[in-house]
Amino acid sequence: MLFQILTLFPEALEPYLGTSILGIAQAKGLAELRTADFRDFTRDRHRSVDDRPFGGGPGMVLRPDPIIDCVEWLEERHGTFHKILLTPDGTPFRQAHAERLLEKERILLLCGRYEGFDERIRSVMEWDDISMGDFVLAGGELPALAITEACVRLIPGVLGDEQSTEAESFRHGKGLDFPHYTRPRVFRGHAVPEVLFSGDHAAIETWRTRAALERTRERRPDLLKPKPAEPGAPGPAPSLPSER
Ligand SMILES: C[S@@+](CC[C@H](N)C(=O)[O-])C[C@H]1O[C@@H](n2cnc3c(N)ncnc32)[C@H](O)[C@@H]1O
Repeated sequence: MLFQILTLFPEALEPYLGTSILGIAQAKGLAELRTADFRDFTRDRHRSVDDRPFGGGPGMVLRPDPIIDCVEWLEERHGTFHKILLTPDGTPFRQAHAERLLEKERILLLCGRYEGFDERIRSVMEWDDISMGDFVLAGGELPALAITEACVRLIPGVLGDEQSTEAESFRHGKGLDFPHYTRPRVFRGHAVPEVLFSGDHAAIETWRTRAALERTRERRPDLLKPKPAEPGAPGPAPSLPSER
């Protein structure tokens, strides 16, 4: 799978893309993570990627021409990408979206800056508009890294068996994960639940299922309500954690 991130700050992303799981995925040949600086596609001597907004107002707007030229150049070289535009007015990103993106061979993530993009970027090409949540960041770089990591760790073979993603929070429409414990057995007066030392796998599984459901009810009751499928989303409505 190829992830191509379009950004004005490739040097900020590259160390992270080479670290931990993302670095391992590349070393194993399971993902290719690249950056491209759309400033390289400007044609004026100042290499300007932005300009003042028509109609007035504060801030600068990203021009459409260097970005579209950069995307077209990349598509000529590699083939068509599933193109993601990072924007606060996009669809909020969810685990289900990461699961669907795994079906794509090539994903391009466009990071905005300043006041955002000239609207015609959306008119001349088809984009999957994604938001990281109801808050405003200075740029799309952190959302691009978050989406890349959420997808790459789901690629079969990236994580070792001992780190399976199958039972994690939100996976396949499920609720939250169960609580985890390790040594010491008692920490500052708080003991690990006895059942976890019982050796009875069925009892442990039942305890974990109940604890996950309780946690989901308490913290994210919205996850337990059946939701209408998102546009283009295959598969069943979310299931209860007890159905793990
Ligand atoms: C300062 S923001 C632009 C905010 C825009 N004027 C607005 O009010 O919605 C600059 C860029 O950061 C990125 N960005 C900021 N917040 C984001 C979010 N919640 N999700 C995804 N991208 C975001 C987008 O690429 C955006 O074009």
